[in-house]
Amino acid sequence: MARKISLGIVGVGAFGQGFVQLFRDHPCVRRIALCDLDSARLASVAGRFKIAETYASLDDICKTDIEALAIITQPWLHAPQAIAAMRAGKHVYSAVPIISLPDGDQMLDWCDKLIRTCTQTGMHYMMGETSQYRPEAMYCRRRAAAAAFGHFVLAEGEYFHDVDDPGCNLRDVAKARLGKHWDISKSGGVPMHYPTHSLGGLLSVMKAHAVSVSAIGYAMPNDDWFRPDAEAGNVFGDETALFRLSNNAAVRLCEYRRIGHYGREAFQLLGTEGSFTDGPGGCHWVTRHGAQAVPRDEMRDPLPAEVVEAWQHSAGEGKDFYGGHGGSHAFLVHEFVDAVANGRSPAINAWVAARYFVPGIMAHKSALRDGELLKVPDWGDGPA
Ligand SMILES: NC(=O)c1ccc[n+]([C@@H]2O[C@H](COP(=O)([O-])OP(=O)(O)OC[C@H]3O[C@@H](n4cnc5c(N)ncnc54)[C@H](O)[C@@H]3O)[C@@H](O)[C@H]2O)c1
Repeated sequence: MARKISLGIVGVGAFGQGFVQLFRDHPCVRRIALCDLDSARLASVAGRFKIAETYASLDDICKTDIEALAIITQPWLHAPQAIAAMRAGKHVYSAVPIISLPDGDQMLDWCDKLIRTCTQTGMHYMMGETSQYRPEAMYCRRRAAAAAFGHFVLAEGEYFHDVDDPGCNLRDVAKARLGKHWDISKSGGVPMHYPTHSLGGLLSVMKAHAVSVSAIGYAMPNDDWFRPDAEAGNVFGDETALFRLSNNAAVRLCEYRRIGHYGREAFQLLGTEGSFTDGPGGCHWVTRHGAQAVPRDEMRDPLPAEVVEAWQHSAGEGKDFYGGHGGSHAFLVHEFVDAVANGRSPAINAWVAARYFVPGIMAHKSALRDGELLKVPDWGDGPA
């Protein structure tokens, strides 16, 4: 087994709490700390998970000798906090996206700063993109490694999350994250500024990146959420993009926040020899000879036996330990801890993260210009 590391979780809010047990009980984590500005929340989560070491702010935890931080704070804080942590000598795991701001050019600038900080400090950064470790993506990566798709022709990716989704209402999420800073000027946002769930999984299969994009936006009549007078000034509740990839394939991407649908975070992949489809009837591997159903529980990659044993023990015999978003949480935690413990670059490093994020920024720019074809900037492959 690899050496054991020390790790702190910064931000134990609604999402961060779901990662505490997985990080705490990973067999390669020997010391764990929690950190949050909200002292009552910090005390409650520390008590629930029986964690004694706590810090009141990112600044405080950066002064310790803890090696790695998992930053799960509000999305507009991610890039500056990740950069500050790396400058303080910490390896960083960050919740998605790289950063969320109304202005696309500012976000491109933060991507550049993040990548330069990785190069300058030698610290590892990983973006916790859940679609990378959904079972469907793992299955398709194995199929791609066996050359079963032939040449990729088209990928279709969707993230449907209606503003008024009864399970996760985006109005409530925005209000909770902003707290007393909430007002109607903070409503809306830009759907394509959060493209990582629809794009990350399919790009990880094709090992290709976007080179150009043309996109269009849909503005719902009388929309009270996507408003021209809000900070983002965006009226598009739905954005649809067509990308050309570096492998010559096309990607059709839908980022929809105004959609009469229960919600969907999924992709389909069509190749010259085989295809993967994912619909209401389940997932199928499709060839010229027919379609074969692929059960979801056969899609996952195996985790190391000692990691499974530790997490199964902490969850309780027979209980699911994989966590949310298709069980991706467990794989994200393992990938980051294993990368830090072994001194290697994580799978979704800053260069890969930019490839999952920047295409959406350019798609929105194109939508604002009625579909003008735009180039997508790229920072290269990064470290192997
Ligand atoms: N599928 C996914 O990948 C997915 C799903 C949900 C949320 N997320 C991401 O997770 C992140 C967190 O979301 P959430 O709903 O838990 O937010 P939240 O507002 O509930 O929690 C954020 C926490 O960070 C803390 N914080 C902020 N600045 C800090 C600092 N300087 N030092 C210490 N603590 C600090 C806050 O006090 C708060 O408790 C978001 O960026 C969101 O985009 C990703």
